[in-house]
Amino acid sequence: MHFITLTLAAFTLLVTSVAVHAAPIKIKFSHVVAESTPKGVGANMFKKLVEERLAGKVVVEVYPNSQLYDDKKVMEALLLGDVQMAAPSLAKFGKYTKKLQVFDLPFLFDDLEAVERFQYGDMGKKLLQSMRKKGYLGLAYWHNGMKQLSSKAKLRVPADIKGLKCRIQQSDVLQTQFEAMGVNPQKLAFAEVYNALQTGVVDCAENPWSNIYSKKFHEVQKYFLETNHGVLDYLLVTNAGFWKKLPADIRTELEKIIAEVTVEVNKRAYDLAMESRQNVIDSGRSQVLAPTKEEVAQWRKIMEPVWKKFEKEIGKDVIKAALQANQ
Ligand code: LMR
Repeated sequence: MHFITLTLAAFTLLVTSVAVHAAPIKIKFSHVVAESTPKGVGANMFKKLVEERLAGKVVVEVYPNSQLYDDKKVMEALLLGDVQMAAPSLAKFGKYTKKLQVFDLPFLFDDLEAVERFQYGDMGKKLLQSMRKKGYLGLAYWHNGMKQLSSKAKLRVPADIKGLKCRIQQSDVLQTQFEAMGVNPQKLAFAEVYNALQTGVVDCAENPWSNIYSKKFHEVQKYFLETNHGVLDYLLVTNAGFWKKLPADIRTELEKIIAEVTVEVNKRAYDLAMESRQNVIDSGRSQVLAPTKEEVAQWRKIMEPVWKKFEKEIGKDVIKAALQANQ
């Protein structure tokens, strides 16, 4: 009897000490952009807050600049448990859900504020769950900014881009958008864009300002046309099973931190875009052109067929909710 009590006590002690000394949970966060961009800032801020508030319980390793994976591979790595968090652009989820394609529809959102109203609205929140069956959970949306067209040749109206080869993200909506413009679209990973533009594999692209400046695209593109024709934002995404299995108190704290970081990223994204735009202009390497209202109308018109083609698979209800965010 005495022996059993002692053994039990020793066992309890062992279990407690294992629990006390349990290794912290590791979150590897892989992304493809520079640390100075909204996503880069957000990932680093997430690491800092987690390590302050969950010291000893969670550690975060951030891998920027495609050091670890490109956006295609990172989705597989999430399912395999090789990374726990990523934030690919919303253009990159077409393989897993058709609904998020709404973010790629050209000239849908008036500005970033409209995008944000949609993301925080009922439909935006619902879409965070749209890949649950595939094993992914959306944790938050982060802004980068509105996209601008760029080319080695002067751009003003759609006729100027016809016949060129443009780099696009991994998105069927964007492929259709460029095809509607008479462009030959090439899906390339972000890490390959600079070289592709430099060596002439492609002639043109579309990017938000912070990506353009941080990756020096203004050194290999002569003209930028400020069309603001679409948005490039992110989905902070994790493995749904991993998230569910986290101890409840840790998960709650992580969710609080993510909400805080999201507010901060979104608050800073517009200013970061404007700073990058100014840096591009100041570099004197390329010209930033502002289209007139009539020119914008031409771009809008040429991209119009994209909506009809994707309306059904995205869902009329999703598009309607997005449009309603424009007031
Ligand atoms: C791109 O591929 O152009 C973007 O998705 C990169 C990024 O993460 O902003």
